[in-house]
Amino acid sequence: MKTKITELFGIEHPIIQGGMHYVGFAEMAAAVSNAGGLGIITGLTQKTPADLANEIARCNDMTDKPFGVNLTMLPGFANPDYPGYIKAIIEGGVKIVETAGRSPEPLLPALKEAGIKVIHKCTSVRHSLKAEKIGCDAVSVDGFECGGHPGEDDIPNMILLPRAAEELSIPFVASGGMGNGKQLVAALALGADGINMGTRFIATKDAPVHQNVKEALVQATELDTRLILRPLRNTERVLTNSAVEKMIEVEKAKGAETTIDDVKDFIAGVYPKVMQDGDLEAGAWSCGMVAGLIHDIPTCQELIDNIMAEANSIIADRLGKLAS
Ligand SMILES: Cc1cc2nc3c(=O)[nH]c(=O)nc-3n(C[C@H](O)[C@H](O)[C@H](O)COP(=O)(O)O)c2cc1C
Repeated sequence: MKTKITELFGIEHPIIQGGMHYVGFAEMAAAVSNAGGLGIITGLTQKTPADLANEIARCNDMTDKPFGVNLTMLPGFANPDYPGYIKAIIEGGVKIVETAGRSPEPLLPALKEAGIKVIHKCTSVRHSLKAEKIGCDAVSVDGFECGGHPGEDDIPNMILLPRAAEELSIPFVASGGMGNGKQLVAALALGADGINMGTRFIATKDAPVHQNVKEALVQATELDTRLILRPLRNTERVLTNSAVEKMIEVEKAKGAETTIDDVKDFIAGVYPKVMQDGDLEAGAWSCGMVAGLIHDIPTCQELIDNIMAEANSIIADRLGKLAS
């Protein structure tokens, strides 16, 4: 399937694996790229630019297909060495960067000068338009369903995607809630040129995370995610567990007065414990509502092949026959 996104990134299928903390290692990105999608290494999971350079080199050893690096722009108080990470990206020969979080404007001159294509992930039409205006090549439009940070507007993809299509000139992918071929076709119908998936890619044989995490996603239903950090206006969708329920009680009790100190024990240092040690109750970790559609743990190749086969057959058979 050829779309503006497959053309822009030189990939076979319009399917991107979004950056994921402690999931987006070289093994994950290479498996997705080798299967014809666009795999993405999560930059900030690597503690230093030198570590990122090493991770990019490992990925280059595992695939000769295009892959990207995610640079998440953290809230103002955190200050990673973004210029150092960008140097590692450029020197590693990576040609695609996924930005997310705050505006990527400060990073764009260096990335563009190096001929790198930038896809910015954001959760509203206004932020998408800003990304277009500052020179991003594409946008990942992240609906309210998404795992991770859905923003504060709470607009689901059934509305957000056609709104983005009304306003944007650059291509965009549908992100949040995506997991199968029906949804790819729906996303295309709503104006997107592909899909971005996070949670669905965690439940694959190739994902370099503990088996407990993959099985938890198969067990979970669409009712099992919760929103945390809402009082801090940094909302995150996570899989529920005992730590998350306790955190929500604290947030309810403190209301608008909640501070990061009140909740930091539920979120700090959780990812390695969950993703590597398989301690699912260690704290809050991102997960999307698409968990309700995850029933198996395929390889990335099988997952992407199945999505494309389902999408192609829906377009050719079901929709083709409905058209009058
Ligand atoms: C465990 C996990 C960790 C994530 N970490 C990041 C991250 O570090 N940076 C980022 O930009 N997005 C992150 N995301 C968001 C994904 O890239 C993607 O936008 C989101 O998962 C899409 O929604 P879905 O999970 O419904 O597919 C994370 C998502 C998950 C599930």
